[in-house]
Amino acid sequence: MSGATKRAREHSETWVGYRQELPRYRTDISRWNRARATDNAAVSNSPSTTQPRTAQPRTAQPRAAIVVGASSGIGAALVRQLAADGYDVCAIARRADKLSELEPPAGAGGRIVTRAHDVTDTAAIPELFEEIVRELGGGLDLIVYAAGIMPAVGPEEYDTEKDLSQLEVNLGGCIAWCNEAARLFRTQRRGTIVGIGSIAGDRGRKGSPAYATTKAGMATYLEALRNRLAEARVHVLTVKPGFVDTDMTRGMDGLFWLISADDAARTILKAAHNRFWSTRYVPLRWWAVGTVIRAIPSFLFRRLNI
Ligand SMILES: NC(=O)c1ccc[n+]([C@@H]2O[C@H](COP(=O)([O-])OP(=O)(O)OC[C@H]3O[C@@H](n4cnc5c(N)ncnc54)[C@H](OP(=O)(O)O)[C@@H]3O)[C@@H](O)[C@H]2O)c1
Repeated sequence: MSGATKRAREHSETWVGYRQELPRYRTDISRWNRARATDNAAVSNSPSTTQPRTAQPRTAQPRAAIVVGASSGIGAALVRQLAADGYDVCAIARRADKLSELEPPAGAGGRIVTRAHDVTDTAAIPELFEEIVRELGGGLDLIVYAAGIMPAVGPEEYDTEKDLSQLEVNLGGCIAWCNEAARLFRTQRRGTIVGIGSIAGDRGRKGSPAYATTKAGMATYLEALRNRLAEARVHVLTVKPGFVDTDMTRGMDGLFWLISADDAARTILKAAHNRFWSTRYVPLRWWAVGTVIRAIPSFLFRRLNI
Protein backbone atom coordinates (compact mmCIF):
# COMPACT_ATOMS: atom_id res chain seq x y z
CA MET A 1 0.00 0.00 0.00
CA SER A 2 1.42 3.42 -0.94
CA GLY A 3 2.03 6.07 1.74
CA ALA A 4 -0.76 8.26 0.37
CA THR A 5 -3.27 5.36 0.32
CA LYS A 6 -2.29 4.41 3.86
CA ARG A 7 -2.73 7.98 5.08
CA ALA A 8 -6.10 8.23 3.33
CA ARG A 9 -7.25 5.00 4.98
CA GLU A 10 -6.07 6.20 8.42
CA HIS A 11 -7.94 9.48 7.99
CA SER A 12 -11.05 7.69 6.89
CA GLU A 13 -10.89 5.29 9.88
CA THR A 14 -10.44 8.21 12.28
CA TRP A 15 -13.39 10.01 10.74
CA VAL A 16 -15.62 6.93 10.93
CA GLY A 17 -14.63 6.44 14.61
CA TYR A 18 -15.40 10.08 15.35
CA ARG A 19 -18.80 9.93 13.65
CA GLN A 20 -19.69 6.83 15.64
CA GLU A 21 -18.82 8.56 18.92
CA LEU A 22 -20.40 11.90 18.04
CA PRO A 23 -24.06 11.19 18.90
CA ARG A 24 -23.06 10.01 22.38
CA TYR A 25 -21.34 13.25 23.21
CA ARG A 26 -23.12 15.93 21.27
CA THR A 27 -25.19 16.93 24.36
CA ASP A 28 -21.89 17.76 25.99
CA ILE A 29 -21.23 20.58 23.55
CA SER A 30 -24.58 22.23 24.24
CA ARG A 31 -24.07 21.74 27.98
CA TRP A 32 -20.71 23.53 27.78
CA ASN A 33 -22.15 26.32 25.68
CA ARG A 34 -24.96 26.79 28.22
CA ALA A 35 -22.47 26.82 31.11
CA ARG A 36 -20.29 29.36 29.29
CA ALA A 37 -23.25 31.63 28.57
CA THR A 38 -24.43 31.44 32.22
CA ASP A 39 -20.98 32.21 33.54
CA ASN A 40 -20.37 35.09 31.18
CA ALA A 41 -23.71 36.57 32.26
CA ALA A 42 -22.86 36.05 35.95
CA VAL A 43 -19.51 37.75 35.53
CA SER A 44 -20.79 40.72 33.55
CA ASN A 45 -23.75 41.27 35.96
CA SER A 46 -21.62 41.22 39.09
CA PRO A 47 -20.98 44.64 40.67
CA SER A 48 -17.90 43.41 42.52
CA THR A 49 -14.44 42.47 41.30
CA THR A 50 -14.14 39.78 44.00
CA GLN A 51 -16.38 37.12 42.49
CA PRO A 52 -17.64 34.08 44.41
CA ARG A 53 -16.08 30.86 43.09
CA THR A 54 -19.17 29.76 41.20
CA ALA A 55 -19.24 33.04 39.26
CA GLN A 56 -15.79 32.59 37.73
CA PRO A 57 -15.68 31.98 33.97
CA ARG A 58 -15.95 28.22 33.60
CA THR A 59 -14.59 27.79 30.12
CA ALA A 60 -11.32 26.31 31.41
CA GLN A 61 -12.90 24.66 34.45
CA PRO A 62 -14.03 21.03 34.37
CA ARG A 63 -17.57 20.46 35.62
CA ALA A 64 -18.36 16.75 35.56
CA ALA A 65 -16.22 14.14 37.30
CA ILE A 66 -16.02 10.46 38.18
CA VAL A 67 -14.13 9.26 41.25
CA VAL A 68 -13.53 5.51 41.44
CA GLY A 69 -12.75 4.33 44.96
CA ALA A 70 -14.82 7.05 46.60
CA SER A 71 -16.38 5.46 49.67
CA SER A 72 -13.58 6.45 52.07
CA GLY A 73 -10.22 8.15 52.43
CA ILE A 74 -8.73 10.17 49.59
CA GLY A 75 -11.52 9.32 47.11
CA ALA A 76 -14.29 10.45 49.47
CA ALA A 77 -12.41 13.69 50.22
CA LEU A 78 -12.03 14.31 46.48
CA VAL A 79 -15.76 13.84 45.92
CA ARG A 80 -16.66 16.34 48.66
CA GLN A 81 -14.19 18.93 47.36
CA LEU A 82 -15.27 18.51 43.76
CA ALA A 83 -18.94 18.97 44.72
CA ALA A 84 -17.98 22.04 46.77
CA ASP A 85 -16.24 23.41 43.67
CA GLY A 86 -19.44 23.00 41.66
CA TYR A 87 -18.78 19.69 39.89
CA ASP A 88 -21.40 17.06 39.31
CA VAL A 89 -19.60 13.98 40.63
CA CYS A 90 -20.25 10.28 40.33
CA ALA A 91 -18.78 8.45 43.34
CA ILE A 92 -18.01 4.76 42.80
CA ALA A 93 -17.02 1.95 45.18
CA ARG A 94 -18.42 -1.33 46.54
CA ARG A 95 -19.84 -0.07 49.86
CA ALA A 96 -23.14 1.55 48.93
CA ASP A 97 -23.83 2.51 52.57
CA LYS A 98 -20.62 4.57 52.72
CA LEU A 99 -21.32 6.17 49.37
CA SER A 100 -24.78 7.22 50.52
CA GLU A 101 -23.17 9.18 53.38
CA LEU A 102 -21.42 11.45 50.87
CA GLU A 103 -23.21 14.78 50.92
CA PRO A 104 -22.27 17.91 48.99
CA PRO A 105 -21.18 20.60 51.48
CA ALA A 106 -23.84 23.22 52.26
CA GLY A 107 -24.10 25.72 49.42
CA ALA A 108 -22.14 23.52 47.01
CA GLY A 109 -22.96 24.05 43.38
CA GLY A 110 -22.42 20.44 42.41
CA ARG A 111 -24.38 17.24 43.02
CA ILE A 112 -23.18 13.78 43.97
CA VAL A 113 -24.52 10.63 42.34
CA THR A 114 -23.31 7.19 43.38
CA ARG A 115 -22.83 3.72 41.92
CA ALA A 116 -22.02 0.56 43.85
CA HIS A 117 -19.48 -1.28 41.73
CA ASP A 118 -16.60 -3.70 42.15
CA VAL A 119 -13.73 -2.67 39.85
CA THR A 120 -12.76 -6.31 39.34
CA ASP A 121 -15.97 -6.65 37.29
CA THR A 122 -14.24 -5.13 34.27
CA ALA A 123 -16.85 -6.47 31.82
CA ALA A 124 -19.45 -4.13 33.36
CA ILE A 125 -17.34 -0.99 33.02
CA PRO A 126 -17.98 0.15 29.41
CA GLU A 127 -21.77 0.19 29.85
CA LEU A 128 -21.57 1.67 33.35
CA PHE A 129 -19.24 4.41 32.13
CA GLU A 130 -21.58 5.35 29.31
CA GLU A 131 -24.58 5.39 31.66
CA ILE A 132 -22.77 7.64 34.16
CA VAL A 133 -21.60 10.08 31.49
CA ARG A 134 -25.20 10.35 30.28
CA GLU A 135 -26.41 10.97 33.83
CA LEU A 136 -23.77 13.67 34.33
CA GLY A 137 -25.07 15.55 31.32
CA GLY A 138 -23.37 13.92 28.34
CA GLY A 139 -19.75 14.81 28.91
CA LEU A 140 -16.92 14.34 31.35
CA ASP A 141 -14.06 16.56 32.43
CA LEU A 142 -12.22 14.57 35.05
CA ILE A 143 -11.79 10.97 36.16
CA VAL A 144 -9.84 10.02 39.26
CA TYR A 145 -8.92 6.40 39.85
CA ALA A 146 -8.40 6.10 43.62
CA ALA A 147 -9.52 2.51 44.26
CA GLY A 148 -6.82 0.51 45.95
CA ILE A 149 -6.06 -2.22 48.44
CA MET A 150 -2.89 -2.97 50.37
CA PRO A 151 -3.28 -6.10 52.48
CA ALA A 152 -0.59 -6.75 55.09
CA VAL A 153 2.08 -9.13 53.80
CA GLY A 154 4.31 -11.03 56.22
CA PRO A 155 8.08 -11.23 55.60
CA GLU A 156 7.85 -14.95 54.78
CA GLU A 157 4.53 -14.78 52.96
CA TYR A 158 4.23 -15.63 49.25
CA ASP A 159 0.49 -15.70 48.67
CA THR A 160 -0.37 -15.62 44.98
CA GLU A 161 -4.08 -15.07 45.53
CA LYS A 162 -3.44 -12.05 47.74
CA ASP A 163 -0.92 -10.65 45.26
CA LEU A 164 -3.16 -11.09 42.23
CA SER A 165 -6.12 -9.48 44.01
CA GLN A 166 -4.03 -6.31 44.33
CA LEU A 167 -3.18 -6.45 40.64
CA GLU A 168 -6.87 -6.76 39.79
CA VAL A 169 -8.04 -3.83 41.92
CA ASN A 170 -5.11 -1.42 41.80
CA LEU A 171 -3.98 -1.95 38.20
CA GLY A 172 -6.64 -3.90 36.28
CA GLY A 173 -9.45 -1.62 37.48
CA CYS A 174 -7.35 1.46 36.72
CA ILE A 175 -6.72 0.33 33.16
CA ALA A 176 -10.35 -0.61 32.57
CA TRP A 177 -11.77 2.72 33.85
CA CYS A 178 -9.08 4.95 32.33
CA ASN A 179 -9.41 3.26 28.93
CA GLU A 180 -13.07 4.30 28.82
CA ALA A 181 -12.17 7.86 29.81
CA ALA A 182 -9.30 7.96 27.32
CA ARG A 183 -11.59 7.03 24.43
CA LEU A 184 -14.08 9.74 25.38
CA PHE A 185 -11.47 12.41 26.09
CA ARG A 186 -9.74 11.73 22.80
CA THR A 187 -13.02 12.36 21.01
CA GLN A 188 -13.84 15.44 23.11
CA ARG A 189 -10.25 16.63 22.70
CA ARG A 190 -10.14 17.61 26.35
CA GLY A 191 -10.29 16.00 29.80
CA THR A 192 -8.13 15.03 32.75
CA ILE A 193 -7.23 11.54 33.94
CA VAL A 194 -5.79 11.19 37.43
CA GLY A 195 -4.42 7.93 38.83
CA ILE A 196 -3.57 7.68 42.52
CA GLY A 197 -0.35 5.70 42.53
CA SER A 198 2.09 5.76 45.42
CA ILE A 199 5.66 6.56 46.36
CA ALA A 200 5.76 2.80 47.06
CA GLY A 201 5.87 2.23 43.30
CA ASP A 202 9.26 3.92 42.94
CA ARG A 203 11.21 0.84 44.06
CA GLY A 204 10.66 -2.88 44.63
CA ARG A 205 10.33 -2.94 48.41
CA LYS A 206 10.64 -6.01 50.60
CA GLY A 207 7.50 -5.21 52.57
CA SER A 208 4.93 -4.99 49.78
CA PRO A 209 6.08 -6.65 46.54
CA ALA A 210 2.73 -6.83 44.77
CA TYR A 211 1.44 -3.46 46.00
CA ALA A 212 4.64 -1.73 44.80
CA THR A 213 4.33 -3.57 41.48
CA THR A 214 0.75 -2.37 40.96
CA LYS A 215 1.76 1.24 41.62
CA ALA A 216 4.78 1.01 39.32
CA GLY A 217 2.49 -0.51 36.68
CA MET A 218 0.03 2.34 37.12
CA ALA A 219 2.78 4.92 36.63
CA THR A 220 3.94 3.25 33.42
CA TYR A 221 0.42 2.78 32.06
CA LEU A 222 -0.49 6.41 32.83
CA GLU A 223 2.72 7.65 31.20
CA ALA A 224 1.80 5.71 28.06
CA LEU A 225 -1.72 7.19 28.12
CA ARG A 226 -0.21 10.66 28.52
CA ASN A 227 1.95 10.09 25.47
CA ARG A 228 -0.92 8.63 23.43
CA LEU A 229 -3.31 11.45 24.32
CA ALA A 230 -0.93 14.41 24.17
CA GLU A 231 -2.01 15.25 20.64
CA ALA A 232 -5.66 15.45 21.82
CA ARG A 233 -4.59 17.80 24.66
CA VAL A 234 -5.75 15.38 27.35
CA HIS A 235 -4.04 15.85 30.72
CA VAL A 236 -2.91 12.65 32.43
CA LEU A 237 -1.63 12.97 35.98
CA THR A 238 0.09 10.35 38.14
CA VAL A 239 -0.22 11.09 41.84
CA LYS A 240 2.28 9.62 44.29
CA PRO A 241 1.17 10.21 47.86
CA GLY A 242 3.36 9.53 50.87
CA PHE A 243 1.48 8.62 54.06
CA VAL A 244 -2.16 9.70 54.25
CA ASP A 245 -4.37 9.18 57.29
CA THR A 246 -7.05 6.81 55.91
CA ASP A 247 -8.46 3.32 56.52
CA MET A 248 -5.51 1.97 54.55
CA THR A 249 -2.88 3.24 56.97
CA ARG A 250 -4.88 3.03 60.22
CA GLY A 251 -2.93 1.17 62.91
CA MET A 252 0.34 1.08 60.96
CA ASP A 253 3.58 1.84 62.78
CA GLY A 254 6.38 4.12 61.65
CA LEU A 255 4.31 6.59 59.63
CA PHE A 256 5.72 10.07 59.30
CA TRP A 257 4.75 13.26 57.48
CA LEU A 258 1.19 11.94 57.77
CA ILE A 259 -1.36 14.24 56.15
CA SER A 260 -5.16 14.17 56.18
CA ALA A 261 -7.20 12.88 53.25
CA ASP A 262 -8.64 16.39 52.85
CA ASP A 263 -5.17 17.92 52.51
CA ALA A 264 -4.16 15.21 50.03
CA ALA A 265 -7.33 15.82 47.99
CA ARG A 266 -6.72 19.57 47.89
CA THR A 267 -3.19 19.10 46.53
CA ILE A 268 -4.33 16.47 44.02
CA LEU A 269 -7.06 18.71 42.61
CA LYS A 270 -4.69 21.67 42.30
CA ALA A 271 -2.31 19.48 40.29
CA ALA A 272 -5.19 18.09 38.21
CA HIS A 273 -6.06 21.64 37.17
CA ASN A 274 -2.49 22.54 36.26
CA ARG A 275 -1.14 20.94 33.11
CA PHE A 276 2.41 21.58 34.33
CA TRP A 277 2.15 18.42 36.43
CA SER A 278 2.44 14.98 34.88
CA THR A 279 3.57 13.35 38.15
CA ARG A 280 2.82 14.91 41.52
CA TYR A 281 4.22 13.66 44.81
CA VAL A 282 1.85 14.52 47.69
CA PRO A 283 3.08 16.41 49.60
CA LEU A 284 5.89 17.64 47.37
CA ARG A 285 8.68 16.75 49.84
CA TRP A 286 8.15 13.09 48.85
CA TRP A 287 9.62 13.98 45.47
CA ALA A 288 13.00 14.46 47.19
CA VAL A 289 12.56 11.13 48.99
CA GLY A 290 11.64 9.40 45.73
CA THR A 291 14.65 10.89 43.96
CA VAL A 292 17.02 9.63 46.65
CA ILE A 293 15.36 6.21 46.88
CA ARG A 294 15.54 5.68 43.13
CA ALA A 295 19.25 6.58 43.16
CA ILE A 296 20.22 3.98 45.79
CA PRO A 297 22.11 1.11 44.12
CA SER A 298 20.36 -2.29 44.33
CA PHE A 299 23.09 -3.92 46.43
CA LEU A 300 22.50 -1.24 49.10
CA PHE A 301 18.72 -1.01 48.73
CA ARG A 302 18.26 -4.70 49.53
CA ARG A 303 19.94 -4.16 52.90
CA LEU A 304 17.53 -1.40 53.88
CA ASN A 305 14.36 -2.18 55.75
CA ILE A 306 12.04 -0.05 53.66
N1 LIG B 1 -3.28 6.14 52.59
C1 LIG B 1 -2.04 6.24 52.14
O1 LIG B 1 -1.09 6.49 52.89
C2 LIG B 1 -1.76 6.08 50.66
C3 LIG B 1 -0.46 6.33 50.23
C4 LIG B 1 -0.17 6.19 48.87
C5 LIG B 1 -1.17 5.82 47.99
N2 LIG B 1 -2.43 5.58 48.45
C6 LIG B 1 -3.43 5.17 47.47
O2 LIG B 1 -4.53 6.05 47.54
C7 LIG B 1 -5.69 5.37 47.07
C8 LIG B 1 -6.83 5.61 48.05
O3 LIG B 1 -6.55 4.92 49.25
P1 LIG B 1 -6.96 5.48 50.69
O4 LIG B 1 -5.72 5.72 51.44
O5 LIG B 1 -7.95 6.57 50.54
O6 LIG B 1 -7.60 4.16 51.32
P2 LIG B 1 -9.10 3.71 51.58
O7 LIG B 1 -9.78 4.67 52.48
O8 LIG B 1 -8.99 2.29 52.01
O9 LIG B 1 -9.80 3.81 50.15
C9 LIG B 1 -9.73 2.80 49.20
C10 LIG B 1 -10.92 2.95 48.27
O10 LIG B 1 -10.82 1.93 47.26
C11 LIG B 1 -12.08 1.31 47.13
N3 LIG B 1 -11.96 -0.06 46.65
C12 LIG B 1 -11.17 -1.06 47.13
N4 LIG B 1 -11.39 -2.18 46.47
C13 LIG B 1 -12.35 -1.91 45.53
C14 LIG B 1 -13.02 -2.68 44.55
N5 LIG B 1 -12.75 -3.99 44.36
N6 LIG B 1 -13.94 -2.08 43.78
C15 LIG B 1 -14.24 -0.76 43.95
N7 LIG B 1 -13.62 0.01 44.85
C16 LIG B 1 -12.71 -0.55 45.65
C17 LIG B 1 -12.66 1.35 48.55
O11 LIG B 1 -14.07 1.25 48.50
P3 LIG B 1 -14.92 -0.08 48.86
O12 LIG B 1 -14.17 -0.83 49.88
O13 LIG B 1 -16.22 0.48 49.35
O14 LIG B 1 -15.08 -0.81 47.57
C18 LIG B 1 -12.25 2.74 48.99
O15 LIG B 1 -13.18 3.68 48.56
C19 LIG B 1 -5.31 3.90 46.93
O16 LIG B 1 -5.05 3.61 45.58
C20 LIG B 1 -4.01 3.80 47.71
O17 LIG B 1 -3.19 2.76 47.21
C21 LIG B 1 -2.74 5.70 49.77
